[in-house]
Amino acid sequence: MPSAWWLGSTRRSVNPAPRPRRSLSLLLFALYFPIIVSAIERTIAISITVPATDNPLRPLDRNLVSWSIQNRDLPIFSRTSYLQNFFNALSTNTAKGQSVRLGGGESDKTTYSPDITITAQKFQSGYYGAQAQGNVTLGPNYFESFKDRYAPNTTYIWCLNLINSTNNFEAAISTAAGVLEYIKDELELFEIGNEADFYGSKGYRDKNWDATMMLPEWNYIADEVQKLGPNNGDDIKFAAGGFANPAYVVTKDFDIPGIIKAGFQSPRIPWYTMHLYPQSGCSGSVTIQPLLSHASLYELLSNYISQVEAAESVGGQFAIGETNTVSCTGRAGISDTFAAALWLVNYVLLSASIGIRRVYFHATSQAPYSPLIPINYSTDSGNYTSGVLPLAYGAYFVSEVLSSNENLHVTEMANDTDYSSYTIWDESNNLKKFVFINLAAYNTTMGVTNSATEDSPAFPFDYPRSSALVNISTPWNAGEELSIIRLQGPGSNAKALVNVSDFTFSTKDAKVENNLVDTILTVQADGYVVFDILASEAVLIQPYSDVLANPHPTKTESRASNSTANGVVMRTRGASNLASLCTPSWSVLVVFSVISAMLAV
Ligand SMILES: *[C@@H]1O[C@H](CO)[C@@H](O)[C@H](O)[C@H]1NC(C)=O
Ligand SMILES: *[C@@H]1O[C@H](CO)[C@@H](O)[C@H](O)[C@H]1NC(C)=O
Ligand SMILES: *[C@@H]1O[C@H](CO)[C@@H](O)[C@H](O)[C@H]1NC(C)=O
Ligand SMILES: *[C@@H]1O[C@H](CO)[C@@H](O)[C@H](O)[C@H]1NC(C)=O
Ligand SMILES: *[C@@H]1O[C@H](CO)[C@@H](O)[C@H](O)[C@H]1NC(C)=O
Ligand SMILES: *[C@@H]1O[C@H](CO)[C@@H](O)[C@H](O)[C@H]1NC(C)=O
Ligand SMILES: *[C@@H]1O[C@H](CO)[C@@H](O)[C@H](O)[C@H]1NC(C)=O
Ligand SMILES: *[C@@H]1O[C@H](CO)[C@@H](O)[C@H](O)[C@H]1NC(C)=O
Ligand SMILES: *[C@@H]1O[C@H](CO)[C@@H](O)[C@H](O)[C@H]1NC(C)=O
Ligand SMILES: *[C@@H]1O[C@H](CO)[C@@H](O)[C@H](O)[C@H]1NC(C)=O
Repeated sequence: MPSAWWLGSTRRSVNPAPRPRRSLSLLLFALYFPIIVSAIERTIAISITVPATDNPLRPLDRNLVSWSIQNRDLPIFSRTSYLQNFFNALSTNTAKGQSVRLGGGESDKTTYSPDITITAQKFQSGYYGAQAQGNVTLGPNYFESFKDRYAPNTTYIWCLNLINSTNNFEAAISTAAGVLEYIKDELELFEIGNEADFYGSKGYRDKNWDATMMLPEWNYIADEVQKLGPNNGDDIKFAAGGFANPAYVVTKDFDIPGIIKAGFQSPRIPWYTMHLYPQSGCSGSVTIQPLLSHASLYELLSNYISQVEAAESVGGQFAIGETNTVSCTGRAGISDTFAAALWLVNYVLLSASIGIRRVYFHATSQAPYSPLIPINYSTDSGNYTSGVLPLAYGAYFVSEVLSSNENLHVTEMANDTDYSSYTIWDESNNLKKFVFINLAAYNTTMGVTNSATEDSPAFPFDYPRSSALVNISTPWNAGEELSIIRLQGPGSNAKALVNVSDFTFSTKDAKVENNLVDTILTVQADGYVVFDILASEAVLIQPYSDVLANPHPTKTESRASNSTANGVVMRTRGASNLASLCTPSWSVLVVFSVISAMLAV
């Protein structure tokens, strides 16, 4: 794809999708810093060709962004309404409940007793400690603490204990009985064993234990679990795999081609998973840079093409079953930054375009890689409050990408060292949307702290933020109205002041606090769509009529409204859009938005 660097001096006379507030701040910036305002603006030209029917379009699962929560932690999330409000917002866009895997290191320490008397309150207060050292015995109160709480339609994947073989795997089978008794309606799948490729090296099995030796144990548990359900347990399904090592460090035959060859294939296994942490936080140094490197991401994910092919060869689907920026609960200054939100968007869309159907982001109630922190907490480094971290906005942006009445498909559009982009299509190969991510880093001094997470080293000054002018040739008709929305923040290292076109979650409970504002962009002659995009920003562009056709989360009782500033048309989404309600007059709105734009500078 041709692209060129421009040493631009002023904004081009192309009338790209403007941003009134930023133009204003650029103007003021120019007044104060006349020398550096002639920042480099890159022009990127891309041509979208309508794909043939045999193209590499891949389906977009509505649960593309999914969640993995340590099973001990869900009751802690349930103490407040953050997670519930967050899930409601995402699910309103995707028209599908969230998929939650309850699993992690604790799965293999868990057993169940219907007589256990530990109260829900005790579970919720972290009874088993930050990392349970011994076993975890769940009782009915555990399930009751979250049952039905994450409706509408949240579904669970439950990871059973494969380590503890006492009394013919009584721990796994009794826990499965508890799961089926309390949350069967909400259960999608069982997993058996968390990161079993480490069992040999950690001493839970012989050193030579491999997938062939794992198979009879796994099958025994699956058979017994199916016996607990009606109709021979025909509707009880499993995900196989769940290995810790990434696809490029496979030990023994612990990857998807390996376990399928060993015999893990059956109608009861519709899904195969592997875990993936691009950087290790357990030891060694980690940095923010790889989050904004498309080349690193591509190199990492291309290792999974053969995993996807293996799963699909037996009629299964492949998911990254547990993942996040940095392993071992993440790292402040990396996992809790706006760069992580941009990374999430690029990660899941690139995953989907190579056939990875879902990506499960791991969270605990107090880790820097969690999208939400549900309660106040203390660590050795300080006292922190509940709140919302930038990753939540990355997930929200993806839910806007997934919002549709149709079954969507995705493919990569173009990429380079500092950008990536994707096109989204319906089943008849009509272009529905596209996403463009400017991955150029920008360090800011604004919004660099968030009371829900540890502070990180700050950078001493603000320097000009570069931007790119993007000109895309599309099959859309000249004059058609488009919506452009932006995943935006003050800079890649920011931990606060992040939003999706003004859409914000309240830091108090993750309820919708500000409604999203669609900016209207018009398709130019011959189908060109032109917009500008800042360093460290992502945009989603689609016909405005499609935005109107789908439900979106909005603040309770709010009204839709329209405004224009500097010739830019903006339409604020609202919960009620009744023309009969006395909406302020158009000219008042214009004046109001000009004033608020000035205040925002
Ligand atoms: C977009 O690119 C096309 C093809 O090069 C060009 O004709 C058109 O003027 C460009 N539009 C803008 C606004 O730069
Ligand atoms: C939840 O499930 C019900 C019944 O299947 C369905 O009518 C409703 O649309 C679903 N809601 C969401 C948000 O998926
Ligand atoms: C496991 O939990 C049970 C019930 O709480 C307890 O009696 C037992 O000592 C625990 N075993 C280990 C090894 O921690
Ligand atoms: C293993 O499971 C049994 C129940 O079958 C339980 O009594 C025992 O404490 C568990 N052992 C460990 C180490 O968790
Ligand atoms: C957390 O707050 C408590 C109570 O105010 C205080 O005693 C403690 O020193 C604080 N901890 C840290 C690490 O700042
Ligand atoms: C959490 O901490 C904040 C700030 O210290 C405080 O205002 C809030 O009341 C606390 N919340 C709870 C539930 O204790
Ligand atoms: C994206 O980048 C990778 C390498 O970084 C390249 O192999 C691939 O072809 C690119 N895809 C597109 C659509 O440009
Ligand atoms: C931006 O911040 C990162 C660390 O977060 C640092 O490595 C990098 O050098 C900084 N870049 C500039 C231009 O200050
Ligand atoms: C959203 O972010 C942009 C850019 O950081 C900022 O100008 C705007 O004020 C924010 N909006 C809200 C509602 O926070
Ligand atoms: C805003 O403009 C759109 C498109 O012209 C129109 O459909 C909608 O009714 C307007 N909304 C309000 C609140 O005026």
